[in-house]
Amino acid sequence: MNSFEDVLNWADNLIFNQTGKNLSEVQKKILESTWQGKKYWQIAEELHCSESDVKKKAAKLWKKFRKDLGEDLNKSNFRYKVEKKYRVSQVSSSGDCLLQEIDINICGQFIQNIKDTQARSPSSLDTPQNKNKSPIINLKDAPKLTCNSHHTSEISTLKQWILESNIHLITIYGLSGIGKSALILKLVEEINTEFDYIIWKTLDDAPQLSTLKTELKKCFSKSQTTPLSTIIDNFNTYRCLVILDDVENIFQSGELAGNYLPGYKNYSRFFEQIATSSHQSCLILISWEKPREIAILETENHPIKTLHLKRLEKAEATKILAAKVKELTDEENWSELISIYQGHPTWLNIIAATIKEFYNGRVSQFLAEQNEIYLGDLELILESHFERLSPLEKKVTYWLATQNESVNICQRPVNSELSKSDFLDAMKSLCRRSLIEKKELENQSVFYLNPVFKQYIITQHK
Ligand SMILES: Nc1ncnc2c1ncn2[C@@H]1O[C@H](COP(=O)(O)OP(=O)(O)OP(=O)(O)O)[C@@H](O)[C@H]1O
Ligand SMILES: [Mg+2]
Repeated sequence: MNSFEDVLNWADNLIFNQTGKNLSEVQKKILESTWQGKKYWQIAEELHCSESDVKKKAAKLWKKFRKDLGEDLNKSNFRYKVEKKYRVSQVSSSGDCLLQEIDINICGQFIQNIKDTQARSPSSLDTPQNKNKSPIINLKDAPKLTCNSHHTSEISTLKQWILESNIHLITIYGLSGIGKSALILKLVEEINTEFDYIIWKTLDDAPQLSTLKTELKKCFSKSQTTPLSTIIDNFNTYRCLVILDDVENIFQSGELAGNYLPGYKNYSRFFEQIATSSHQSCLILISWEKPREIAILETENHPIKTLHLKRLEKAEATKILAAKVKELTDEENWSELISIYQGHPTWLNIIAATIKEFYNGRVSQFLAEQNEIYLGDLELILESHFERLSPLEKKVTYWLATQNESVNICQRPVNSELSKSDFLDAMKSLCRRSLIEKKELENQSVFYLNPVFKQYIITQHK
């Protein structure tokens, strides 16, 4: 089938075989409007009848199609099921395949190349596991990364959330270079056959929401002869995985974490809509900062989750150093190096380069010379985090940098004119930026500044 007209012909034949009658005009209208993602009340308005009338007529239609499309057929999955079974318009009439640019090399492997139009035959979609062998994947905006280790436990958590718990909105936040994009690229590589669409968009240049929506719709409509009108319609009709990377760019620098730039507050409503409406898709947000309203939505039992991406496990971090095996020696000291640089892949890579260049790869020599954490090129990365802090957070950060021990939330800087609530807000915000971490000590929660960031504050802002 190449168009909605073909769908109508198919439906007409099917109804004729069952009833000896052709589709009525009303039935055609119901099918067409359903195909376009319209709601029953909208169809009722167009047909000048009541919504319950339309519902009854539609219910009879779905019943007749069930033998062909499955017993769970209903309005919201009608288009999805027809397309899945008959691959309506998945390949353009010219035979060109969609999104030719998706040969992205991830961790040494190719994400499935959908140039292979053969993979789009109906038979391949009806495999026993019901896997989609030809998902439409658009990773043009994704960074080109290769890495040899992974946040393995986080990958299984994400798989569980997305594939088993049908979570609608996931926020991944963590420091720059901790591996957020790399983690999601690996995830895409592992679960792409579960989706009809996978689209990666960066918010690097802070697009207005309307621009982003238009771009997303363009990605969807390339493969649809009658494009669906909204993102939610696409999320409802198809199984989509949309990734928005670099989300911190729509947040205001110099304010508490996760506050939108002026004119960008409508993103909040969009995220909320994805979290709260019913559909079969997932939106992943990748950010340095956790959006503030996500914390509120989380308390309301919606299908949303947050993953704070922290250091790599020691074994995984060791692989980073091991990849430089000809460059680094003194393996017995690697674990100390990993612990000083917080298992942070980018920091470890940068420091390993310094050790290679100036210490001939001798990790023990490098460590022996340090009486404080050496920052070198890390300063630039840390500075970009520092610059985003609000004045309140900076105050608290300076104070935390002077503390030798982790602090209890009841402690706070004396003589600083910081009210209790200002202090709490600043601590919360620093946690949402991943600059403060929490640990349990003798049945109490205590907080500490990331030690590398602490060193940056001490050296730069004494
Ligand atoms: N698990 C890992 N093992 C080894 N290297 C890694 C790992 N994760 C990331 N890296 C490397 O660290 C670098 C930064 O990773 P990535 O771009 O994913 O970070 P990020 O958290 O998305 O940073 P940003 O927020 O600045 O975009 C990349 O060069 C990547 O190859
Ligand atoms: Mg990234």
